Amino acid sequence: METSIPWEHGSEFGWILPLDYPYPKRALPANAVLFGNGRQALAAALLAGKKQRGWHRCYVPSYICQSVVDAVLATGLECIPYPDLPIGQPELNYRNLQPSDCVLIVNHFGWRSPQFSQLVRTTPAGLIEDHTHDPWSAWASNSSADFCIVSLRKTLPLPDGGAIWSPRGHPIEPPSIEEPDHQRAALQKLAGMLLKAEYLRGGSVEKSLFRSLQTSGENLFKTLPLSKPLEITSHLLDRLPWDQWRSKRRVNVEYLAGLLRTIKQVEVLNPPRMAESCSFGVVIRCPTNSVRDQLRQYLIERQIYPAVLWPKNCHMMNDCQAVEFSERILFFHADFRYEVTDLERVVQAVRDFFRSS
Ligand SMILES: Cc1ncc(COP(=O)(O)O)c(C=O)c1O
Repeated sequence: METSIPWEHGSEFGWILPLDYPYPKRALPANAVLFGNGRQALAAALLAGKKQRGWHRCYVPSYICQSVVDAVLATGLECIPYPDLPIGQPELNYRNLQPSDCVLIVNHFGWRSPQFSQLVRTTPAGLIEDHTHDPWSAWASNSSADFCIVSLRKTLPLPDGGAIWSPRGHPIEPPSIEEPDHQRAALQKLAGMLLKAEYLRGGSVEKSLFRSLQTSGENLFKTLPLSKPLEITSHLLDRLPWDQWRSKRRVNVEYLAGLLRTIKQVEVLNPPRMAESCSFGVVIRCPTNSVRDQLRQYLIERQIYPAVLWPKNCHMMNDCQAVEFSERILFFHADFRYEVTDLERVVQAVRDFFRSS
């Protein structure tokens, strides 16, 4: 009997095999401490800064996801937006910064340079860098921030996990246990990953089953209490060929961005080829919000799941450029899961949409 192998593009990772041997290169700096997710790693940085250095205000880019804002608020620090989009320059009156302030700088889509960090370093304020979108950039490796944080499951096929390290050697208190609520969320994500892999192998798994596990696990993730990640996450982290996957992502991003640039109705926002860095994926900007939404729906109907990173939220609301950006962009995955033929299929679907509309 012939079985048909389902195809899809984008969305979350499924379980990846084989993972038999420890990978010879460490995925994270030796002093990194693991938490349940990225927002917990951020909260750990803020709580350490609050306790050790008296931080009570955190400046946060206007263009950011709600979970990061929630993490700041959960620590009791004041969360102050400063205009900062993935494109253009951040606007922060850094001359007003005090020792009780800290600035969160996000390497949006892996496109940013360390320049702004260097400016903040000349002030008395603390500095946290979020390297989620490219944890292995030269910027992250050579950082002199108080703390660097990453959410791990955005670039690696892991059910949970966030990491924090302090390039300046500040102490970081590790979480003591796997909190039961966190465990419950992360185990749902893990089950979702296993079932997705089975689905992609052509097994008899309903898509709605792994999707609902992924979604409910994601919705159950919290900032507090701080938790260890699942034990399996640390085990996997030592086994993933992260640098090979990063190289493949770089090649895929260039290829996909190049093809999408041939479609005149959309604007590819990725910067030209970057020597050191590696883009998280490919971001296009549509002429209007309604075209973006129609294109997204068209692609979803063809099993292509680009993301809106990030949907607009209250924190963005005072920056009309951030809101407009959020309403018009689509993020296309280009990670190690994809071969040239997958990326060409995505581009053909985008082309077909504009031909048919
Ligand atoms: C740039 C960035 N940092 C941190 C986080 C928070 O990570 P987590 O969802 O693992 O808590 C996210 C989540 O989307 C993110 O996009």
